[in-house]
Amino acid sequence: MTAMRLHDLEPSTEEFRRAVVRGLSATPRTLPCKFFYDEAGSRLFDRICELPEYYPTRTELRILDERAGAIADLLGPRTRLVEFGSGAGVKIRLLLAALDRPAVYVPVDICRAHLVAAADALAGDFPDLRVAPVCADYTEPFALPATPGIAIGTTAGFFPGSTIGNFMPDEATAFLRRARRLLGPGSAMVIGVDVPKDAAVLEAAYDDAAGVTAEFNRNLLRRMVRELGAEVDIDGFRHEARWNRALSRIEMHLVSRRAQTIRIGEQVFAMAAGETIHTENSCKYGVDQFRSMAGRAGYLPVTAWTDADGLFSVHVLRAP
Ligand code: AVI
Repeated sequence: MTAMRLHDLEPSTEEFRRAVVRGLSATPRTLPCKFFYDEAGSRLFDRICELPEYYPTRTELRILDERAGAIADLLGPRTRLVEFGSGAGVKIRLLLAALDRPAVYVPVDICRAHLVAAADALAGDFPDLRVAPVCADYTEPFALPATPGIAIGTTAGFFPGSTIGNFMPDEATAFLRRARRLLGPGSAMVIGVDVPKDAAVLEAAYDDAAGVTAEFNRNLLRRMVRELGAEVDIDGFRHEARWNRALSRIEMHLVSRRAQTIRIGEQVFAMAAGETIHTENSCKYGVDQFRSMAGRAGYLPVTAWTDADGLFSVHVLRAP
């Protein structure tokens, strides 16, 4: 790694254990989707982004590619970019390349290994950029790293991929409010938001023919085995993606193929055949619906673009 200081707040195994026990004790049973992203899960997610059925990544990339110049004009020179959930770094490269002498890039990610590798690669490609990675769960409060001696223009959040959809709507509003406060008055937010569409398109995107999303979902069980010593028959669970039209969200579940138990230390969770563990929601918002949510979080919607097929949207918001 180059001369980069990592601010490390990666969640502990103990935190994972507590979340798993709480989720498996609940009715209906749940597991928080933020724990998908250990090293194996982050790699699987990168593969999901390449799948033919998973339209969000390539559609958002196309919008960003077309609009990068307009975004750069809105943000101005010497931007400090804070990316929530930094991923593989493809989208940020597009934005950084278009910006006028970007000053600082703060990738924030829950997976330390993935974050460090991506930040390191990026620092190599943009030698004039100060890269200040923060390993943190961005759903929890954290501080922006100080970068003394660097002149900064606008501070802008970047939250691509419709990850906002993985929060429940009230959590999403709370996240936006917290981000606005973290980034400060006059800051901007560039955010990708998936929109509601045909159920067949959505369900295929979350249950691909190659089975990568199924593996991504089941990796939560594998992680429980690896990190918590859980006793669980991973093949005893099948992946399911359901479009819940009433709540405008894709739900991912792990469905128990038969009556079975999951053991974690002294704790035993008895699952009935067909019972599910609800592992993820991916909420979809129409453009106006998302603008209203941003307004409730104290943001002023500046602009929003969609692709020609209306599959995905990218919004620019401004904090007053
Ligand atoms: C990260 N997030 C936006 C993805 C989504 O589409 O909700 C996670 C994902 N889950 C299954 N496929 C992708």
